[in-house]
Amino acid sequence: MTDPSEAASRTATTVAGAAVDQGRRTWIAITCGAGAIGGVATAVPFVSTFAPSERARAAGAPVQVDISGIPPGGKLTVEWRGKPVWIVRRTKEQVEALKKVDAEVADPNSERKTYPIQADAKNEWRSIKPEYLVVVGICSHLGCSPSDRFAPGAQPSLPDDWQGGFLCPCHGSTFDLAGRVFKNKPAPDNLEVPPHMYVSDTTLLIGEEKKA
Ligand code: FES
Repeated sequence: MTDPSEAASRTATTVAGAAVDQGRRTWIAITCGAGAIGGVATAVPFVSTFAPSERARAAGAPVQVDISGIPPGGKLTVEWRGKPVWIVRRTKEQVEALKKVDAEVADPNSERKTYPIQADAKNEWRSIKPEYLVVVGICSHLGCSPSDRFAPGAQPSLPDDWQGGFLCPCHGSTFDLAGRVFKNKPAPDNLEVPPHMYVSDTTLLIGEEKKA
């Protein structure tokens, strides 16, 4: 079992690693394709012309993200308010598989109030567009960062009918590919969906939602 403090420090390292070369306002985001599960990650530079200053970001300024480089089944991690935010580009099969676990997750329709979800993402796939999941990558139990377990099927620590999702290494909580926590796990809530909106088809703004 992984020590929670150790896992938290690993998370911090990942988050810190997401922001480099601030002088040029250049962000390095970490992408992991579906084939990269198991530790191989590729660093891809993203130039954000509206990237806020370090102080503004710490205070919670919205973060603009170019999502055009995420391959189907891939994931991009960015930092917002000091937290890792995951953007997962789900395949059609992954979106369809969400239905299969509706009865196994604790809060299938995001009704719980701990992390209120914006109206345009309050649906089965918990996102504005079914293709893109946007969630804070912090477990709702004690704050570890869950690991990607995108491949379906039997594997260690997961059920034989696993459809793909995330596994928290600290105490074994599991989440589907909409960030919904499975029943009878230590984590009490789904992964948080941060306020977000699309500025264009390929640009996300994290930290702000569309006015109703
Ligand atoms: S921190 Fe305990 S299960 Fe995730």
